[in-house]
Amino acid sequence: MKNGLGAARRRHHALLSQGPTALRPAAPAATEGRRRPRSPVTVGLTATLARLPGPAPGHTPLGLAGATAVSAAAALGGHLAYRQAAGPDRAAAVPRLAPADWVSLGAVEDFPEGKPVRATAGELAVVVVREGDRCHVLAERCAHLSGRLSEGSLVEGCLRCPWHGSTFRLRDGEVVHGPATAPQPVMEARVLSGHLEIRLPAAG
Ligand code: FES
Repeated sequence: MKNGLGAARRRHHALLSQGPTALRPAAPAATEGRRRPRSPVTVGLTATLARLPGPAPGHTPLGLAGATAVSAAAALGGHLAYRQAAGPDRAAAVPRLAPADWVSLGAVEDFPEGKPVRATAGELAVVVVREGDRCHVLAERCAHLSGRLSEGSLVEGCLRCPWHGSTFRLRDGEVVHGPATAPQPVMEARVLSGHLEIRLPAAG
């Protein structure tokens, strides 16, 4: 066991001693064979690692399992971020822009049935989908990468983004199909005196 610990220390020592050498460009022939002084950082790290004990029995498999898990998580995160563009929620600002009190979007007849229509409430752009007497009102810019949902298509009670196909349930904005990972904000809506009104859900 003692020999094993000693061997581990020697390996650490050898790696650290040779690391800077490996990273340097090839030295001129005139300097070959001359021993280069080691930097204080290399000397300090070498001395510290030389004092560390080698791995305890059974720790190497655990360490490998941990490294594998970290690598897998990094690969998944990279895939989501760079291939799926599943980054920040682009609709995160909606609660700040949405009206806290009822605001009219216009006469309900102005919103044809079964067709997404863009409207605005102050600074907030919304998309209205009318189904008979009921109107669904969602934030217009897609939570994925801000695609225009008013140019999207209706599919079985859902609204499909024209840019990358994220599909949100009209009723509650839940993601039925990605790449969006965050739900699309939905406004509370009512029809009063023939006018469609909306406000931030649970406001007031
Ligand atoms: S912007 Fe990408 S799915 Fe809507």
